[in-house]
Amino acid sequence: MNEDAVEKTVEIETPEGTFTIRLSTGDLGYVYPDMVRYTIEVLCGTRPVYTYAINSYEVPPGSLFEAGKVAEIAFARLAHDIRSRPEIYTRRRVFTRPLPKEGAYDVVILQGSPRTFGNSAFAASWCDDEAGRAGLSSRVFSIHDMDIRPCVGCYVCYNEGYCPIDDDMPWIIRAIESASLVVVCTPVYTNTVPSGLKAVMDRCQWLHARVKVLGEEVRARGLAIAVAGQPGKEPFACVTPVVDAFMKNLGIQPAEPVLFSGLDRVRDIRKIEGAEDEIRAAVRTLLMHTTEG
Ligand SMILES: Cc1cc2nc3c(=O)[nH]c(=O)nc-3n(C[C@H](O)[C@H](O)[C@H](O)COP(=O)(O)O)c2cc1C
Repeated sequence: MNEDAVEKTVEIETPEGTFTIRLSTGDLGYVYPDMVRYTIEVLCGTRPVYTYAINSYEVPPGSLFEAGKVAEIAFARLAHDIRSRPEIYTRRRVFTRPLPKEGAYDVVILQGSPRTFGNSAFAASWCDDEAGRAGLSSRVFSIHDMDIRPCVGCYVCYNEGYCPIDDDMPWIIRAIESASLVVVCTPVYTNTVPSGLKAVMDRCQWLHARVKVLGEEVRARGLAIAVAGQPGKEPFACVTPVVDAFMKNLGIQPAEPVLFSGLDRVRDIRKIEGAEDEIRAAVRTLLMHTTEG
């Protein structure tokens, strides 16, 4: 991560004190090609009272103004506003939302099926149980029961490391950020993961931003467990690369996936000989690394 470069500064004397407005640019080219973040900080004396940030990926192609121009305009408007009503800037505003303090688990299981007693749900419960047997804490997130909205591609997470969408996602971010093992249990839906789970994967871009911008670290290993209605390997041709991409984007090292095909309504995972043992063994192997440190 590079230091932001200060582009310009202005000082304004007001009855509330001396304000400094500072525009700086941060090169986020190490995150995405040509990504630049423009940050405007307003200080009253030495106390930060306002921050505005915009990055070049927030501005859609074809927009009237580019991000740099928007930052210039915001800078000029702020200078005008502070001169005319400085009193509103001396009240601290909070623009970042901290993640919940509680909600850390050793093993995090993302259960992507809407079926409460479906195949993925059984797989998730076996993983959960294995974590308990190893003396570790664990949590199954049943995505379908949560309020998770799709990513809107605003790229705000690359400014200050938080996502402006107000839903249940902070619990998942908090949990993955501190987990040692992340398991994704999913059915194959139209060759990939169900939309709710895909929304979670997309929204984890927020965690990618926290890693890249705030220097947070994700240390987890990853395991994908997928079930499909059709027989053979074919149903997993898309789903495994999708889960892999999700994990690798966050720095999670995926293990060999555990896959069960030919499973539909009439035949469930409990009736497949050795399936439960295979899932439990895969989890145990990964947990061995965790408990060994
Ligand atoms: C909307 C939908 C789409 C599906 N698409 C596929 C598919 O593309 N390929 C496949 O093999 N099975 C497909 N299936 C079957 C499921 O993957 C299969 O029934 C699975 O065992 C369900 O797992 P669950 O009990 O965890 O929900 C689909 C099922 C649904 C409901």
